[in-house]
Amino acid sequence: MEWSENYMIGVKEIDDQHQEIFRRIQWLVDSADNVDLEEMLGFIERYISHHFDDEEKIMIMMDYVGLKDHQMIHHAFKRDMAERINELNNTEDNLLKTTRKVELAGHLAGWLLEHIMTEDFKLAAAVEQFARLALVDVKPKYLPKERSDARRERRSEVE
Ligand SMILES: [Fe+2]
Repeated sequence: MEWSENYMIGVKEIDDQHQEIFRRIQWLVDSADNVDLEEMLGFIERYISHHFDDEEKIMIMMDYVGLKDHQMIHHAFKRDMAERINELNNTEDNLLKTTRKVELAGHLAGWLLEHIMTEDFKLAAAVEQFARLALVDVKPKYLPKERSDARRERRSEVE
């Protein structure tokens, strides 16, 4: 799972976290068969949850229309993960446990990539628009006249 600038959504904090999540998932995929279960669970339950909270804070701050849907997706993911983790914890057979760890790492990788490229990209579009509108609100009188008019027109198209 290699990080690429194509996955950036335009908020540094979130992009840095995504990049770190990619790095850790790649490590999990590479070493899932002998990775420490506690470490794997800690990453999913703490790092990823914390990342979702940060993403949601940005959505709340922007008054993002897709907030509820995006929150539900995060929530469903966490519930699904809790079930898988519970299953893993209750697996006594070592071979089966290893298979499930490898499966979980692969599932995480697929889910995250898909999530970034659909839901997080919708957020990226909203972030871009938010930044553009914020610029118009804050600085129109400092822009040369034609430019500020053009921006105001663009803004009324958006509204
Ligand atoms: Fe998200």
